[in-house]
Amino acid sequence: MTMIHGFQARHEPGLEPTSLPLLLLHGTGGDENDLIEFGRMVAPRAPLLGLRGQVKEGFANRWFRRMGEGVFDLDDLERRAADLAEAVRAAGVELGFAGKPVAVGFSNGANIASALLLRHPGVLGGAVLMRAMDTLPPAEGLDLAGLGVLLLNGAQDPMAPAASREALVRSLRGAGADIVEQVTAPGHGLTMNDVNAARAWLAPRLSAAA
Ligand code: MLT
Repeated sequence: MTMIHGFQARHEPGLEPTSLPLLLLHGTGGDENDLIEFGRMVAPRAPLLGLRGQVKEGFANRWFRRMGEGVFDLDDLERRAADLAEAVRAAGVELGFAGKPVAVGFSNGANIASALLLRHPGVLGGAVLMRAMDTLPPAEGLDLAGLGVLLLNGAQDPMAPAASREALVRSLRGAGADIVEQVTAPGHGLTMNDVNAARAWLAPRLSAAA
């Protein structure tokens, strides 16, 4: 078992060590292996790092606590985002990343990824947020100038309604992030449209020199 700073991890070095790595953040009930195949499809040569959220909801792994569906424990989210930020920094040194990883997060994993952007803006080189929702308000003076963020949404996603998605976009855009939004599915589940949209968006962005 590979551990990175207290997180169970799966690392796939990839064929192109000079590529930015993908940081793969699973949804509720997933683990460090969940998005590896997805990561390979969207970035065929990049190093991949899958991590496992440290919170348990029954048997399900999560990234932070919630009181109910869509009712988040924001203090826990702040703490967990800080822990994850440390782990991602440590992984970069330990695994010799060519640059800051680009997060690819689904649902609960997209929500912790956006918390990294909003609270620890130096940690990620960009993010693909799939079925993300609004959680934390942006930090005062937050600067995400030019940072690329792709939001892949479900048209009628019951867990990530339009008002919540729009609030998240306002927070990220207000801090200067370069946002692209796409509707890739009818609901919360991922589809091949997500693979295709993420691959097209990532392709020009994974060169560490860029
Ligand atoms: C969350 O708890 O982050 C969202 O409700 C999505 C999910 O259930 O994974």
